[in-house]
Amino acid sequence: MKKILVTGGLGYIGSHTVVELLSVGFDVVVIDNLNNSKEEVKARIEDIAGRNFELCIGDVNDAATLEALFVKHTFDGVIHFAAHKAVGESVDNPVMYYQNNVSGLISLLSTMEKHKVSNLIFSSSCTVYGAATDLPVTEKTLIQKAESPYGTTKILGEDIINDFAKHKEFKSILLRYFNPVGAHPSAKIGELPLGVPNNLVPYITQTAAGIREQLTVFGEDYNTEDGTCIRDYIHVVDLAKAHVKALTYCQDMSHNVDVFNVGTGKGNTVLEVIRAFEKVNGVKLNYKIGPRRGGDIEQIYADTSKVNALLGWSAQYDIADMMQHAWAWQQGLQD
Ligand code: WQD
Repeated sequence: MKKILVTGGLGYIGSHTVVELLSVGFDVVVIDNLNNSKEEVKARIEDIAGRNFELCIGDVNDAATLEALFVKHTFDGVIHFAAHKAVGESVDNPVMYYQNNVSGLISLLSTMEKHKVSNLIFSSSCTVYGAATDLPVTEKTLIQKAESPYGTTKILGEDIINDFAKHKEFKSILLRYFNPVGAHPSAKIGELPLGVPNNLVPYITQTAAGIREQLTVFGEDYNTEDGTCIRDYIHVVDLAKAHVKALTYCQDMSHNVDVFNVGTGKGNTVLEVIRAFEKVNGVKLNYKIGPRRGGDIEQIYADTSKVNALLGWSAQYDIADMMQHAWAWQQGLQD
């Protein structure tokens, strides 16, 4: 397997994955519509990896653009990141989410079928588990009705790929991400701050940088050790490396579709994340306890035995590394 198309490859997880792909010798073509990324990220990726790649500024929903790419290149596989991913935004604008996330996948699948490209890594999410009662969640944990249109697009995406793969020489791996955080240790790439952050870690770093006045911890009355929610935070570089492992595994796997939890297997409360940030970076964070945020689940973290065993992958970075790299990236943004 040599040449890979990465959709959304200038985005947060996409850019880190392109670095890992280039670093181990894959040739990469990226299609990105710059909806949630910037063209300048391309040069930063190439600087880190020491290798170049081709960029097509375009949308996977644009069949003509995709067709031209698949005519120009013979792809051995595709990693599909291009999708909207803000839970709150999806509640306010469900049609935009179904149009972009679901129709975009269908557009990609039909072009892949036409050009006989038969390996797909799909960006899914632990959000498909909803508020699971048995923890840690395994890949056999019941999929529950999604809490948001965003979550529904991930469940639909998995179902569409499963149906598409039946009776075909088509193979796909569904990666259910937990909470991706942090940035590349070089601090050259990370999560671009576009608007007010919904997620915890960018809000922490922007508060520490003085961009935000104060972090609000959404609820301290949950049934957890310190009353705040538990999540499985995973370093974005660890997550990126899991995609490379998945590509290698995909082409040789005996069945058509397989699914993997990609987390650390460890849960941290919000207060533990704050303390880890303060400790490793030597800063005091200005935060207060506020009311719960609607839609938040109390706790979720991954059983990673399947991904450890079959992909030969496990997370290497711990929460202190994640907080250190997140802060270095934030400080680099101020320069
Ligand atoms: C984490 C914890 C908040 C902000 C979402 C999506 C998920 C994935 C990651 C795409 C929660 C608390 C947060 C703040 C806080 N996205 N928090 N104050 O909601 O677990 O997951 O993003 O794939 O699909 O659902 O992540 O970072 O928003 O929240 O207290 O200002 O931090 O209540 O407990 P979440 P998050």
